[in-house]
Amino acid sequence: MMATLSMSAFSVRAHARSTLNAGARNPVKATMTTRAPRLPATRARGASLVANAAFTPAGAKIAGVGMAVPAQYLTNEDLSELVDTNDEWIRTRTGIGKRHVISGDESLTSLAADASKKALEMAGVDAEDIDLILLSTSSPDDLFGSACTVQAAIGAKGALAVDLTAACSGFVVGVVNGIHFIRGGEYKNVLVIGADVLSRYVDWRDRGTCILFGDGCGAMVLTSTPNPDDCCLLGFDMHSDGTGNHNLTAKFTAEIGAETDGKSKPCAAGEAAPSGRGAFCNIGMNGQEVFKFAVRTVPDTVSKSLDKAGMTSEDIDFLVMHQANQRIIDTAAKRFGLGPEKVVSNIAKYGNTSAGSVPIAMAEAVEEGRIKEGDIVATAGFGAGLTWASAILRW
Ligand code: UT7
Repeated sequence: MMATLSMSAFSVRAHARSTLNAGARNPVKATMTTRAPRLPATRARGASLVANAAFTPAGAKIAGVGMAVPAQYLTNEDLSELVDTNDEWIRTRTGIGKRHVISGDESLTSLAADASKKALEMAGVDAEDIDLILLSTSSPDDLFGSACTVQAAIGAKGALAVDLTAACSGFVVGVVNGIHFIRGGEYKNVLVIGADVLSRYVDWRDRGTCILFGDGCGAMVLTSTPNPDDCCLLGFDMHSDGTGNHNLTAKFTAEIGAETDGKSKPCAAGEAAPSGRGAFCNIGMNGQEVFKFAVRTVPDTVSKSLDKAGMTSEDIDFLVMHQANQRIIDTAAKRFGLGPEKVVSNIAKYGNTSAGSVPIAMAEAVEEGRIKEGDIVATAGFGAGLTWASAILRW
């Protein structure tokens, strides 16, 4: 099914054209105050809570994971036909061998729906029983978000579906959020999706970025358990620093006056220019600064999450980090004394899939029989924003 692309056959040039334009120290032991009796079971899912809403704490577990990547991919050799680069440099400096790129009818929504269906199947949860869908993405198919189109595609009729943007940290932030909704006792099944199709924003003339990014999606189903002390989230730590925002951007730009057919309304009273079409610029990245940021923040945030979980790095069975650069993964693994058998890395196959990378890595590790029930998984994301986040999960 997967086939290397000949550059002439593939739409990279088309892409280029189109894109130029747990509160307590140990959440397991956390207690929550029940202020009122539980709402009657007959209350329809999604209906508004009354003012004195009751929160009966519940536990949470990871019930299923799934992943999806586009059918077509670009090898390092393919890219060497576009820019001045080579397989040896890319593998040595990043660990990447190829990256998948959407084409044809594929979209962020279609990838997210595929991955979600697999996660639901593993969980044994019917789509109609999903209460909440959190879609972590920076590249929705629609400016207003894609969570609702994913909801429609999988038939999760009863769910609230919303997008969450925290770049490459998005999936970890989504999981922490999703688990809190379950912990509160109101939602039973939460679907968290990490998906990005950043190939839409890559400048295929920029060898500093086009070698890195790929498209892909992973999904996780979280479900409630009756015992509030039985929670898969053992500790977490999340941060952002907007003063570093300029290091990794794809900024909005207004093309005032372009392609309006003279039908658009003026921008504002008294202004002559018609409303233009908006667009987002290509990804711009200061690679060295982001690299330094990552090797500084990831060990720090994972240490804080371990501390909150009352654990040390010796308790980690698997490290599943954002797959941005093998050298960043290796640095963090070395810092925690983790050998390759404890580190999940698939960057060679997929490159940096942004919000998709952590759940894709998790789904593959589960499918390969590496991550098993009861394992302690340390996960961390970092990227644009700047944002960084980590969590200690018990599988
Ligand atoms: O999810 C978002 C998070 N993003 C990241 O985590 C990205 C973090 N940064 C990185 O992964 C690395 O900084 C890069 C992979 C982007 C770049 O690697 P680097 O080791 O920092 O390379 P560099 O920018 O310092 O460039 C070293 C040399 C330069 O040549 P000179 O000036 O030494 O002659 C570059 O022009 O490598 C050159 N170079 C390349 N050569 C061949 C840069 N890109 C390429 C390339 N192929 N693709």
